[in-house]
Parts: sequence; structure tokens; C-alpha cells
Amino acid sequence: MPTDTAKEHRPRRVALVTGVAAGIGQGYALRLARDGHRVAIADLGSADETEKLVREDGGEVFSVRCDVSDAESVARCAEAVTDRFGGVDILVHNAGIYPMAPFADTDWTPWRRIMDVNLDSVFHLTKAFLPAMTRGSWGRIVVMASTTFHAGSAGMVAYTASKGAVIGFVRSLAAEVGEQGVTVNAIAPGLVRTPGTLSGPQLELGAFDAIVANQAIKRTGLPEDLMGVVSFLATDDAAFMTGQTLVVDGGFVRA
Ligand SMILES: NC(=O)c1ccc[n+]([C@@H]2O[C@H](COP(=O)([O-])OP(=O)(O)OC[C@H]3O[C@@H](n4cnc5c(N)ncnc54)[C@H](O)[C@@H]3O)[C@@H](O)[C@H]2O)c1
Repeated sequence: MPTDTAKEHRPRRVALVTGVAAGIGQGYALRLARDGHRVAIADLGSADETEKLVREDGGEVFSVRCDVSDAESVARCAEAVTDRFGGVDILVHNAGIYPMAPFADTDWTPWRRIMDVNLDSVFHLTKAFLPAMTRGSWGRIVVMASTTFHAGSAGMVAYTASKGAVIGFVRSLAAEVGEQGVTVNAIAPGLVRTPGTLSGPQLELGAFDAIVANQAIKRTGLPEDLMGVVSFLATDDAAFMTGQTLVVDGGFVRA
């Protein structure tokens, strides 16, 4: 079926994507808007570039500043998005941080920060938007996990623990809300080329080459490799898939 015809038949919903200034979140915002959804984008910093790209692409977008780790900031964001779009049907928890340090050098403060941003944010945002999804008997929640959970990557104990925790969140919440039309899934990428990974220690450590060498598909992952997955999870076609973690890593993890 030609894409345009498929788009005509696709319900137009409201998506909220966090962590959208660049990288994977920017790709998700662009793709969900291209799918015809109205897209709210939330970031700690400026998401002007993403907003501009979505508009230029013909999409409808609303940008809000939000620190997803902060309950009050999330409450203000939820109010602004609800005022603008009436609610959220598709919630994509993408914002995340991944500082690398051995566990011996990881004190309580950086540990808490990673948990605040990667895990507690999922609590705050889901609390804000899930009640309306269950009331309306339709919702899609997607959380970003990571194959560091499957691989047990050294130097990333706090990060890996936070991503394992969100996989647990997804499995358990899926069991609670399946009967109310809400699916809850995780996407676990391998190493993806984004501003975050390109400015981190991954390049210096040779992580890109080392990981690609062990992938079935021998090239670096890109945000584009993930966009179709979030697009699918947001559809009615994905209504029977919940509580899952979709590994998208060029076949590094083959479990
Ligand atoms: N890039 C990878 O290799 C990779 C692999 C596995 C999982 N992931 C996960 O995918 C997601 C996106 O990764 P990325 O590489 O595109 O990240 P990135 O660092 O390139 O971008 C992250 C975005 O999140 C925003 N952000 C950070 N803290 C925030 C906060 N407290 N509140 C609101 N926004 C905040 C940043 O401003 C930025 O726009 C993360 O959850 C990450 O853990 C990435």
C-alpha cells in the first residue's frame, strides 16, 4: 500500500517525546510527526532545531522546557502539553544520561543523578499521563532501555542498573494496564551515533569499532535505525505487543 494512503487511514494522535534536542529523540519526534501525530517535545535545553525541523517537514509541534528528573517541572510540562493538545496518547521516555565511570569512582551524587534522569523521570511522566490513557482505553508508553543491560558493560554500573530498572518497570506496568488498552514497551539500542555518544568517552575508547566488530550487521547504529520501531509501537497494529524489550543493535545481542 502506498505510504500516503496508509497515512490517511492512520489515526492522528498526540505524542510526547522527551530528550529531543538532538540524537535519537529528535529522530523520534520527526518520525512521529511524519506519521501524522501532533508532537509535543520536551527537553532540559533548547529544542529549537527539532521544532524547526518538524515544522519544515509539515508537522505540528509544541515545544516545552522540562527537566524530566524533577517532579514539579514534569507537572508544569504536563499542564502545558494538556492545555495545548488535550492530553497525550503516545508517551516516549527518551531523555537519558550515560556518564561512564567505574563503580569504585561512582559516588552517591552521580548515582542519584543517573537514577533521577533515567528512572525517576519514568515514574513522574507516567504518573502524569497514564490516568488519562486508561480512562480513554488507549495508550502507548515506550521507554528507552539499552543493551548495556544485556551485555553488562563495564564502566556503566549505574547506567546499566537504571536501564535494567526501566525494563522491570515496563514488564510490570504492562501487566497492570493491558486490559485498559495501554501497551508498555522498551526499546534497547546498542551503541548509536548521536551527539551524546560522539562527545563522550565512547569514541576515545574505540567502542564504536569494537562493538561493530561483534555485530551481525557491521555498521554503526543511527537514530534512523530506531525511528521505525517507535513508529510501529505507536500504531494500532502493535496493540497485542506489550511488556517487551525490543533489541535494536545490528545483532550484537543475539538472545
Ligand atoms: N546513543 C546510544 O548509543 C544509546 C544506546 C542505548 C540507549 N540509549 C538511550 O537513548 C536515549 C537517547 O540517547 P541519545 O544518545 O540520543 O542522547 P543524547 O545525549 O544525544 O541526547 C539526550 C537528550 O536528552 C536531554 N536531556 C538530558 N537530561 C535531561 C533532563 N533531565 N530532562 C530533559 N531532557 C534531558 C538532552 O538535553 C538531550 O537533548 C537515552 O535514554 C539513552 O540512554 C542511547
